[in-house]
Formats: sequence, C-alpha cells, structure tokens
Amino acid sequence: MGARTTKAVYVQRKGQGFELLDYTVQQAPVYEKNFSTELFSEHLKTVSQALGLKTKQVVLMPGVADSLLRHAEVPMVPIADMRLMLKYNSKNYLQQDLPDYVFDCYVLPPRPGSASTELVKNQKCRVLVSAARKQFLDNLQEATKNAGLVTDQITPSLIGTANAFEMAQPEAFAKEVVALVDIGFKNSTITILLHGELSLSRVVGLGGDKLTSGLAEAMSINYAEAEIVKVGMAEEAQSMMMGLLMPLGRELRASIDFFEKQEDRTVSQVFVSGGSACSQFIIETLQSELMVPCKSWSPLSFLDLALPPQQMGTVEQLAPQLAAATGGAIAAL
Ligand SMILES: Nc1ncnc2c1ncn2[C@@H]1O[C@H](COP(=O)(O)OP(=O)(O)OP(=O)(O)O)[C@@H](O)[C@H]1O
Ligand SMILES: [Mg+2]
Repeated sequence: MGARTTKAVYVQRKGQGFELLDYTVQQAPVYEKNFSTELFSEHLKTVSQALGLKTKQVVLMPGVADSLLRHAEVPMVPIADMRLMLKYNSKNYLQQDLPDYVFDCYVLPPRPGSASTELVKNQKCRVLVSAARKQFLDNLQEATKNAGLVTDQITPSLIGTANAFEMAQPEAFAKEVVALVDIGFKNSTITILLHGELSLSRVVGLGGDKLTSGLAEAMSINYAEAEIVKVGMAEEAQSMMMGLLMPLGRELRASIDFFEKQEDRTVSQVFVSGGSACSQFIIETLQSELMVPCKSWSPLSFLDLALPPQQMGTVEQLAPQLAAATGGAIAAL
C-alpha cells in the first residue's frame, strides 16, 4: 500500500517452493483527507480482479505513512503483556506518545557480547515493535471484508521487504551487513540488516515526488511533463537530477554512518527497491553519494514464474517495486 501505487502479488505454494501466479501495480486511491473505507474497498476489488484471485486470503502491507517500526528494550514478559505495556507506556519505551495505537512485538535473539548479557541479567530483551492506529486497522479490515476478502495478516511494508530479501538473497542476508533502501513517492526508507538481524530502520521524507516536482520547477514545465523527463532521463536533466538526489543521498549516508559507528561494522552493499529503482541513473547517482556499491534487486528470484503470457514482458522491469508485497505473501505462506 504505497502513497502513489499499490503493488500486489498472487503467490501459491508449489511442492517445496512457491509460484508467482500474477502481479499488478495500480495507482493508489487518492483520499480527500482521511483514509476512506469505501474507496479502499473498491480499490481492493480492482486489485483482486487484476490478479484473477481465486483465494480470499490477503495480506495487507501498510507503508510508512500508516505504520511504525521501532526498536525497544522491554522487560521479558509474554508478548500479550508486552503489547499492553507498550500501549500504556509508549512514551517510556518508544519516546513518543502513541495513544490509539495497536502494537505488536518480535523478540530479537540476544547477540553475543556484554551488552546482551547485561540485558538478560536485568530480565530485559530487545524487541522490534510495529504499531498502527487502531482506527486505521479497523477500517482496513472492514474494507477488506466489504471487498469479499479475508485479512490473513497486516504487516508493515518494511518487514515485507526484509523478508523478501531473506528469500531472494539468502547468502547476503545471512552473512553480510547490507542496507535495503526503498525509494517511494513521498518517503524513502533505509533498513540495515546485520547478519540477518534487522538492526536499524529510518524513514526519510523524500521520494520520487520531490524529484519530479523539483525537475518541474527547475525546467519551468508541468508535473506530468517533468515525470516524462525523469523516467526518460534526458541528458539535459541529468545534472538537475543529481542535485535533487543529493539531499536523499545525504540522509541515507547519515543513517549508514550512525550505524557503522554504533556497531563498528561496515555496510558492504546497498540494495535498492521502489519505483525509482527502475532507473539505472538514479541508482548510479545514489552510489556516488553513498560511496557503497548500490544495485536494484528482484524479490522474485526464488519464485517459479507461472504468469499469464502478457505479464511476462514487464515483470523484470517492475520487480524492484514488488519487494514488500512478495515478502508479505511468503511470510504468510
Ligand atoms: N523508471 C522510472 N524512473 C524513475 N522514477 C520512476 C520510474 N518508475 C517509477 N518511478 C517513480 O517511482 C515513484 C513511485 O514509487 P513507488 O511506487 O515505489 O511509491 P509508493 O510505494 O507508492 O510510495 P511510498 O513508498 O512513499 O508510500 C513515482 O514518483 C515515479 O515517478
Ligand atoms: Mg512504497
């Protein structure tokens, strides 16, 4: 569920593996002010029709505009108690008042080292916390029901991307320190995986929208024209694009610096997803800003493609956008 586009995959088990039956990228509904259950329900119907769905089970993956992901240190208690503890003391554990939110936790295994031993001694543990507004979750579930579907899971898209990466690049996931960067529409995200542990995640309020509107302004053209220039990456626009990508590069580099200093480890590669990852020029520019090898990646490499013939042509090009959706499906299966 992106701010600009909805990405969906239709996956089924096949023997020991998984099969991609279909996928779709659809323009997201434009809500007047708040999320509209009716609009989203109609949208889900469109998406399920495009996929030719024969199942009712769906996994919904809200983007960073509607979900939070944080690390926290909490007392070692059953997950159900942890959720309540976070609900009533979010300020204490997450340094932020989050009334009306619902929480979920994943306990991170202790890392070898003195800090972890200390934590265990104090009956505490490190957890990954996800949260979303209760009202939003209720609306999502109602919309899903009205579309004739059943909500199997609701997972933050950041988790989906990391899960897809684990399946698509198991070696790098388990053995390396890598950053997953998703360049979205309004927001971009960076997640750092340390030998398979999601150890940092940040949201940067810059994405493809800023690039297009920046080009429009600099070239005195309208937004739609600027979008064409951006996707075509005409030579005369390249230096402008480099300038527009600089703030994003700087923010991402700052997160990598922070992580590298704190953990005393070096990020070896950056894997880029999201709409802008379709542009080789954007990836190369980011690489020169970050000074770490950057590449786009396909979350589909571990799936058997059983797509309708007309979908085969574009799948390779669109694959970097399907990371979160693919990870969500796989985790549920
Ligand atoms: N080939 C391309 N070259 C450059 N930019 C592209 C290309 N294809 C798509 N984009 C850009 O990708 C952006 C949309 O990306 P994406 O679909 O990942 O966003 P989203 O997931 O809807 O947003 P968010 O993650 O912020 O919620 C648009 O700004 C679009 O211009
Ligand atoms: Mg997105």
